[in-house]
Amino acid sequence: MDPFVEFKAAQRRGWSHFAPLEIQTIPAAAALINHARVRTGDHLLDVGCGTGVAAITAARRGARVSGLDLTPELLERARENARIAGVAVEWQEGDAEQLPYPDGTFDVVVSQFGHIFAPRPEVAVAEMLRVLKPGGTIAFNTWPPELFIGRMFALTAKYGPPPPPGVLPPALWGDPSVVRERLGAAVTHVTFDRGELHVAALSPAHHRHATERTAGPVLRIIESLGTSDPERLAAFRAEYDVLAGEFFEHNVVRQSYLLTRATKA
Ligand SMILES: C[S@@+](CC[C@H](N)C(=O)[O-])C[C@H]1O[C@@H](n2cnc3c(N)ncnc32)[C@H](O)[C@@H]1O
Repeated sequence: MDPFVEFKAAQRRGWSHFAPLEIQTIPAAAALINHARVRTGDHLLDVGCGTGVAAITAARRGARVSGLDLTPELLERARENARIAGVAVEWQEGDAEQLPYPDGTFDVVVSQFGHIFAPRPEVAVAEMLRVLKPGGTIAFNTWPPELFIGRMFALTAKYGPPPPPGVLPPALWGDPSVVRERLGAAVTHVTFDRGELHVAALSPAHHRHATERTAGPVLRIIESLGTSDPERLAAFRAEYDVLAGEFFEHNVVRQSYLLTRATKA
């Protein structure tokens, strides 16, 4: 029995409004597919695919692609995105901690800001490596804990309901030393890079308004404090705006993210 059933159900609800934010992650998807060195004919899995931005980018490059996500509303949009792009992708509702594929299925397994939300990193990474062929490539984009989104996660953890014991913060995946440790001896040739993410906004509060309606962790704060504790909600919003202000200049909130690539031993 999965001890995190409730937690994952809350995640699924939280992420169900994410589709408009795909506009922010589309450029990073191209960077990830480049970093993973995806080639025509590769069999690729995108874990936590959301609306399919990395999956569709890989499919347009000639890969044979499967995309898996916890949230059916996002897979619906992914299907529509693939149809518009004119590519075939096999979409699957599922959990990064329990991938519904046999051992050694894929040449490449990627995740863009996706597998980091699985509550047990060691389970998710073991699953991603299990379904990868020996010599295959695992690659992902993650948020550094010291930059905007990593610190925003810490803020939502401060104001939100406490997660069940054992759930580790997603931004730990943005620390290269943690990534090395989690991949461990199962991989060789660990390679890091950095990408830049720029989000247009008219002010830090304007950025927050969009995030409140779309980003799972923030949406859950609004849901939990909205009616029960307006003062605490106002404090959250004020802290968010100060934090976003640190990264806001010339109508852009900018930060970098970590790209990782490794080869399964
Ligand atoms: C920030 S979104 C990223 C989506 C997409 N990869 C992108 O770059 O636009 C996080 C995604 O992770 C998914 N997710 C969260 N927990 C998951 C889990 N345990 N298994 C699979 N997907 C999960 C969410 O449903 C959501 O689509």
